[in-house]
Amino acid sequence: MSKLDWNSVDFETMIIHAGQEHDSAYGALATPIYQTSTFCFETVEEGAAKFANEIPGYHPVYTRGGNPTTRAFELKCAAMEGGEDAVATASGMGAVGSVMLAFLKCGDHVIFDNSVYGGTNHVATTNLPNLGIEVSRVDTADLEALKAAIRPNTKMVYFETPNNPMIKVTDVAAVKAAVGKDIRVVVDATFAPPPIQHVLKLGADIVLHSITKYINGHGDALGGVVVGSAADMKQLRANCMTKINGCPPSPFNSYLVLRGMKTLALRVERHCQNAMAVAKYLEQNPYVKTVYYPGLESSPSHELACRQMENGLFGGILSFELKDDVKGLSSFEAGKKLLNNMKIASIAVSLGDPDTLIEHPASMTHAGVAPEARLAAGITDGLVRMSVGLESAKDLINDLEQAFEKI
Ligand SMILES: Cc1ncc(COP(=O)(O)O)c(C=O)c1O
Repeated sequence: MSKLDWNSVDFETMIIHAGQEHDSAYGALATPIYQTSTFCFETVEEGAAKFANEIPGYHPVYTRGGNPTTRAFELKCAAMEGGEDAVATASGMGAVGSVMLAFLKCGDHVIFDNSVYGGTNHVATTNLPNLGIEVSRVDTADLEALKAAIRPNTKMVYFETPNNPMIKVTDVAAVKAAVGKDIRVVVDATFAPPPIQHVLKLGADIVLHSITKYINGHGDALGGVVVGSAADMKQLRANCMTKINGCPPSPFNSYLVLRGMKTLALRVERHCQNAMAVAKYLEQNPYVKTVYYPGLESSPSHELACRQMENGLFGGILSFELKDDVKGLSSFEAGKKLLNNMKIASIAVSLGDPDTLIEHPASMTHAGVAPEARLAAGITDGLVRMSVGLESAKDLINDLEQAFEKI
């Protein structure tokens, strides 16, 4: 299978086979877990040649720098995104941190979208300024604001699409056209992995994911990945991160991700169908003020999402805001009651698991974001985020209905 050109087969075929060679020792179909910290050499000369990369092929010497199970995971991710190469990390934040340290230095300027995951927000507000890296925040979907924020030392634009937790869609091709070739466009596509969208093909220079979410898809492993050109991935490996900062995934987690990715196409389709059904239900619920889901025709992101997201898939995550004065309660109090009364959905952060997860961004994922910055990004105290799982859509809607009744 490895001789196949992944562009010549459908996504469903590629995602099962890409990256996974039959095991050279015994022909095992599933990629073995190379649970080893180091690799032995027959002779000093062989070791020296492997360290010097003089032997063709893949020759790991120490798992912090490379491991066959992790390499299979990286190659599958590169094929999944249509990128030249990929670097796997121990978590999504490992991927975010790696990209920052690999491509930015003291005196550079980076533009972040004004609403990103709370951990990434901390990197933007604290870690990068501490390193002497200038940071601006704009709504990256607003191209005029984005262009106005560019400085002579701007090296990177960073955004999520759809973003966390407002599910705002940003036009990747338009951003790339606006910033030009010398500024790297880095997209966190965690909320909508392939086959929903392929942001490198839209013009992004680098795509990263928290693998912890849809790509592993089973809620049992942390992981991250960065995908881009061979040159950028070489720079990422050389400069940092997995090797020097020590954030590679464990071989066991790489194995779990490889296993999870085989069903990515099937799972994602079902997540999206369920999310659409739940979004439509919430849209007509008298207690709900706004539903944020790009699949809804009422969404300001809908037209762009139809162009940028593929096959009528709009992702499995939605947010919604309750009305104030629901049964005499503020939207915050009503939201708390709603969450506390859900029976199928678990109150938990994270997303992309088979189980439906529901959370309150203002007190959980985005609690670390300053209240005024939260509000500026639309994250009100009454906002609820739901990662719609793989259960029956009917059961999920019934669960919401009974929880609304109990408010
Ligand atoms: C959009 C996004 N990016 C990155 C991360 C960080 O991922 P991880 O928890 O795997 O470090 C998250 C976590 O929720 C996220 O939602």
